[in-house]
Amino acid sequence: MTNWTAIDETVKRWIQEAGSLIRASFHHALSIQSKSNPNDLVTNMDKETERFFIDNIRKHYPDHFILGEEGQGDNVQSLDGVVWIIDPIDGTINFVHQQRNFAISIGIYENGKGVLGYIYDVVNGELYHARHGEGAWMNDVPLEKLKPVPVKKAIIGISSTWLVSNRHFDQKKLVSLAKDVRGTRSYGSAALELAYVASGRLSAYITMRNAPWDIAGGKIIVEEAGGYVSTLDGSELNMLTVNPVLACAPGLHEQIVNDYLK
Ligand code: IPD
Ligand code: CA
Ligand code: CA
Ligand code: CA
Repeated sequence: MTNWTAIDETVKRWIQEAGSLIRASFHHALSIQSKSNPNDLVTNMDKETERFFIDNIRKHYPDHFILGEEGQGDNVQSLDGVVWIIDPIDGTINFVHQQRNFAISIGIYENGKGVLGYIYDVVNGELYHARHGEGAWMNDVPLEKLKPVPVKKAIIGISSTWLVSNRHFDQKKLVSLAKDVRGTRSYGSAALELAYVASGRLSAYITMRNAPWDIAGGKIIVEEAGGYVSTLDGSELNMLTVNPVLACAPGLHEQIVNDYLK
């Protein structure tokens, strides 16, 4: 039997340690490279933070699998067994340009089901976490269960991909959603935007293309807070591929899917 309580305590300790290392890196020059295009950045700290978690997981949980954004984990092709899905720094552009608005994100899945989720806002010292069936917390204070939010009072997280025609949606409908809501925001870190949905700072987050590591921790946290996370047509996310993602407070989910995304 997996001792999830022990794993939970251990991960929280590792996350705090990794956060200290990242904060300390602000005093040193970063080594910055591009990956698929000039704006797809990776730094030595993305790689070192991923390495930090991988080395610890391999030492303590050698039979677990690791799917990490920077590719130093396993070549994960299935979610059988225990799989750690890790984004060492979500919001690398913010990390490089702003030294804020980025997070460590970790989701731990067992046979495809999310068990433990973590999002750590390193600069503000806010650790969001959740355990399946037990609730969600921010710095060990339980998050209040999300209440239904009507569209006209919603603040939604969006990204500039909304400005560009996209096969996932009818652009006119998204423009009317942006007009109908109370406000829109764009933070540049999918993990933080999911943490904000879970804590009620945002009522929804909509994005066209997120990788498993962007959303693995946040999905568990939003759902434990009483929200919904799905693809844009309301189907289940696939944690082995990229997905368009809609995360919402209750009430809003059906309304956005039916009135704006179909
Ligand atoms: C990115 C951020 C960004 C989202 C991108 C992600 P990264 O993650 O979450 O907000 O719009 O799709 O790739 O590359 O900074 O870890
Ligand atoms: Ca990246
Ligand atoms: Ca990411
Ligand atoms: Ca990343």
